[in-house]
Amino acid sequence: MRHSAIRLEHCSEGDSRVQAFAPGRVNLIGEHTDYNDGLCLPFAIERGVTVTATPLSGREIEADALDLGERDRFEMMPPGRAAAGWRCFVRGAVGELLRAGIELRPCRLEIAGDVPRGAGLSSSAALAVSLCLALCGVAGAEPPERVALARLCSRIENDWCGAETGLLDQLASLFGERGRALRIDMRGPLLSTVPLALDGHALVTLDSGARRSLAASGYNERREECLAACQRLGVDSLRDAPGHEELPKPLARRVRHVLSENERVDAMVAALEGGDLGQVGRLLDASHRSLRDDYEVSVPEVERAVEECKRSGALGARIMGGGFGGSVLALFPPGAQPPRGALTVEPGPAARLGRV
Ligand code: GLA
Repeated sequence: MRHSAIRLEHCSEGDSRVQAFAPGRVNLIGEHTDYNDGLCLPFAIERGVTVTATPLSGREIEADALDLGERDRFEMMPPGRAAAGWRCFVRGAVGELLRAGIELRPCRLEIAGDVPRGAGLSSSAALAVSLCLALCGVAGAEPPERVALARLCSRIENDWCGAETGLLDQLASLFGERGRALRIDMRGPLLSTVPLALDGHALVTLDSGARRSLAASGYNERREECLAACQRLGVDSLRDAPGHEELPKPLARRVRHVLSENERVDAMVAALEGGDLGQVGRLLDASHRSLRDDYEVSVPEVERAVEECKRSGALGARIMGGGFGGSVLALFPPGAQPPRGALTVEPGPAARLGRV
């Protein structure tokens, strides 16, 4: 797939106000595999975060989170790290782009989004990606190519916001394609697309209502457990784990999830290619059981949302994203009525940058 940088569309000389959009994502399957060098199958959704950047004179970056009615201002070079919430993403974007040698210019950033925050649809990666594209665009600088930009955005979350996330969300936002899911082998990473032909079925997300912040949830603890399992097994990543039998609990269960989830990703690709929607549903259910029982990232609100989907006729439903709250993903057959509040999700295009 193209690893090129995202360039400004509709470029006209002299006008330097730019707008960047980055989508959130749904992960069809392949959960907690990204930081274990494994496989996943996300797609970018139509909803996301838009950042409009206007050049300013002076030395400051001003940022307005329009939906929250909040503002931040700081000297551009180099920004301090003492910030929380959405502000750490803005400072992180400026800090990491400067560190990558990109010349930025003072500007006002207006941030707006229609992807629910903390609902497991990756509003945070959409924020980081759109901020970086807008900051580069308004400065007339070419952003890093997509994989490098995904890594840079992941450093914003890791080093500035305290969430040890992997690359799944950023790659989905930067490489999404309309009508297709993205098979990512994190070793590389190697990316290819798979047509998402659902034959009248619908994929929906349902917010469990349990809010979680990845930094505060058990996400980082799961990463540490994976690291501990690697050390005991003498491998660099769980992709290479020879098995899990020798490990103490709960490490054995964590490894069993990662190994079985990698297998489910390719089983899902085969089910989609073969048009076997029943099997797509069964794989969602199997992934959920593994995430609930082996990886232990579910919570009662999520279990209730999964049950609600199943009662409404879902062929399969599972917890999605980092876990400990957020949204569930479910597959409904034609004619079924998903629960109230469910959002139908379809694969949309990747992040983009244009003139206003
Ligand atoms: C979050 C992280 C991703 C990934 C998923 C779990 O969304 O941001 O990197 O680890 O959880 O699959």
